[in-house]
Amino acid sequence: MTLPTTERLLLGPGPSSVSPRVMRALGAPARSHLDPDLIALMDDLRARLARVFRAGPGSLTFAVSGTGTSGMETAVANVTKPGARTLVIVTGYFGDRLAQMFERYGAQVTRLDVAWGQAVDPAAVERALAASPADIVGFVHGETSTGVRNPAADLARIAMAHGALTVVDAVTSLGAVPLDVAGWGIDVCYACSQKGLGAPSGMAPITFSANALARRVPCRSFYLDVTLLQQYWVERKYHHTISAPLVYSLHAALEEVEEEELEARWSRHAHTHRALVDGLSARGWSLLPAEADRLFSLNAVNVPAGVNDAAARVALRDLHQIEIGAGLGPLAGKIWRVGLMGSGATAANVTRLLAALDDVAKPGA
Ligand SMILES: Cc1ncc(COP(=O)(O)O)c(C=O)c1O
Repeated sequence: MTLPTTERLLLGPGPSSVSPRVMRALGAPARSHLDPDLIALMDDLRARLARVFRAGPGSLTFAVSGTGTSGMETAVANVTKPGARTLVIVTGYFGDRLAQMFERYGAQVTRLDVAWGQAVDPAAVERALAASPADIVGFVHGETSTGVRNPAADLARIAMAHGALTVVDAVTSLGAVPLDVAGWGIDVCYACSQKGLGAPSGMAPITFSANALARRVPCRSFYLDVTLLQQYWVERKYHHTISAPLVYSLHAALEEVEEEELEARWSRHAHTHRALVDGLSARGWSLLPAEADRLFSLNAVNVPAGVNDAAARVALRDLHQIEIGAGLGPLAGKIWRVGLMGSGATAANVTRLLAALDDVAKPGA
């Protein structure tokens, strides 16, 4: 077996394509996990992540060594007391995963299920909390299984008004669509390195507000204990052997984010999404979510009538070197998931994808 030698354009639900600069960062000279050079980079990484999350004063921001799911588990494991009354808004596969995670940590979970393809109505959350108070409200900002963006600012405001702590999944939104952790009053927010930020997978940025830190609980996981992780990231006390190449690559990706500027990056994602929607509608094709509910970084495209979903995806990959994602769960075979995120969110990539789809997505083919 040999390593891959051809470039593939990653336009699936993540990982997104990694820029040459971020790829080069992976190969910088090795440092160990407590080397002063690495520690300095980790300090800078924390500061950059806090800015990208827009975290508030007194918060703690760092990156868990693991993928987005490790961020989810770190969030849940550090704020969930057994029996904690927890409202989880489930608008798709990852909302369901979040509900399962809370259950594993002993929460008493109430689910607010929403039809796949729709965003939650904040009024429904208001009603749910009025009917049954909660200690914690959890939800996914950008639901990758359906291409839906939930109204995170409204949801956080409602949860705060009811005295609940918010746990928010920003795995498919950080670095791609507007997110303002402190401005919106979010308590715990986690993400991943491999989507909007444009680094390889393997690090999960996370931020805890001062309120969340004050309400932390004894953590049942050693690896994901925020108190031990704080001692490592802030006080340099050994906890685990962090991967220097992953720190380098995430750092380089954050340099790119900040050089572009966050708001410019959000509008690039919005424009790229618009270019895709225009191209699809010119072909008579459509997206699953209503316009107001759409997540710019992940587009849930209805598989056109008569087109073989799997065959088209395989042909895109093998003939055009483009990867897109399949539908999950009830949406399997019904949608394609087209990620336009990180360095991949460009008009040129939309043009290339549409031309390739014209070639492979023919009814009856
Ligand atoms: C919204 C959301 N949450 C959590 C995850 C889990 O992240 P990972 O696969 O990096 O563990 C994903 C993965 O795509 C996701 O899209």
